Amino acid sequence: MKEKARQARAENRIIGLVPTMGALHDGHASLIARAKRECSPVIASIFVNPKQFGPSEDFAKYPRSFETDCEKLRQAGVDALLAPEAAEVYPKGFSTYVHVEGLSEKLEGRSRPGHFRGVSTVVLKLLEIVQPHRAYFGRKDAQQARLITHMARDLNLDSEIVVCPIVREPDGLALSSRNAYLNREERKAATVLVGALQAAKQELGAGHRDALHLASTLRRKLDSEPLAAVDYAAVVDAESFEPVVRVSCACYVLLAVFIGKTRLIDNLYVEPKAPGSDELVFHL
Ligand code: PAF
Repeated sequence: MKEKARQARAENRIIGLVPTMGALHDGHASLIARAKRECSPVIASIFVNPKQFGPSEDFAKYPRSFETDCEKLRQAGVDALLAPEAAEVYPKGFSTYVHVEGLSEKLEGRSRPGHFRGVSTVVLKLLEIVQPHRAYFGRKDAQQARLITHMARDLNLDSEIVVCPIVREPDGLALSSRNAYLNREERKAATVLVGALQAAKQELGAGHRDALHLASTLRRKLDSEPLAAVDYAAVVDAESFEPVVRVSCACYVLLAVFIGKTRLIDNLYVEPKAPGSDELVFHL
């Protein structure tokens, strides 16, 4: 892969990388489509990274559909696939990790200790191998996208990190490989996440900018669903991921909610229409 990428760079081509853990869905397809519009060649990776799963998490049962994924990548016009074995990525004696301080400890990081160390380490390795001009990530994993953008800046990486919109099912559920874990009843209940974000959006649109007010709006909606157990519901600054008191700058409304045993995340991105403007633009 290094040799292929080197060759593409020597030919002055713009390399796009779409890192994934497989179990590809239309969210991944949207990343690939964007990469195809902006780059050639487009390289995808499939690697279920053991280092970003906690000991009691779903590494063993994480959905794997390699053959179907390859067919989807072929149809989407991906030029090359990097699908290494765990032993290649982490050879015996592997002991070098990247840790993005601060961002790694909050919210997702607090609920999933070690998760972001695994993410930043594997993403740095993928970026090092391919050295793409652009690498594409979904905004559903907002904190991951922020962490990777921050790492790329701190480590002077040559890759531009491109964060793409969330893709949703017709009823609003954000696409995720983990949606496959939901039974019928849970699948219906899972729409409570987007429902809560819509309620927050409505409140913001009506001029309620107070984070406590928004948090109680989220809670009320989430608590109305018996199958939902809230891990966190937070309103944070979009750069630092620190809680805000008022929504007056670019912010994320973030949710992590268990539906039965399945942990789902979703978010609403809010930004002022123009610098200093009181009017907000919403990205659900
Ligand atoms: O978002 C994902 O699928 C993974 O966290 C990533 C970025 C491919 C790293 O393993």
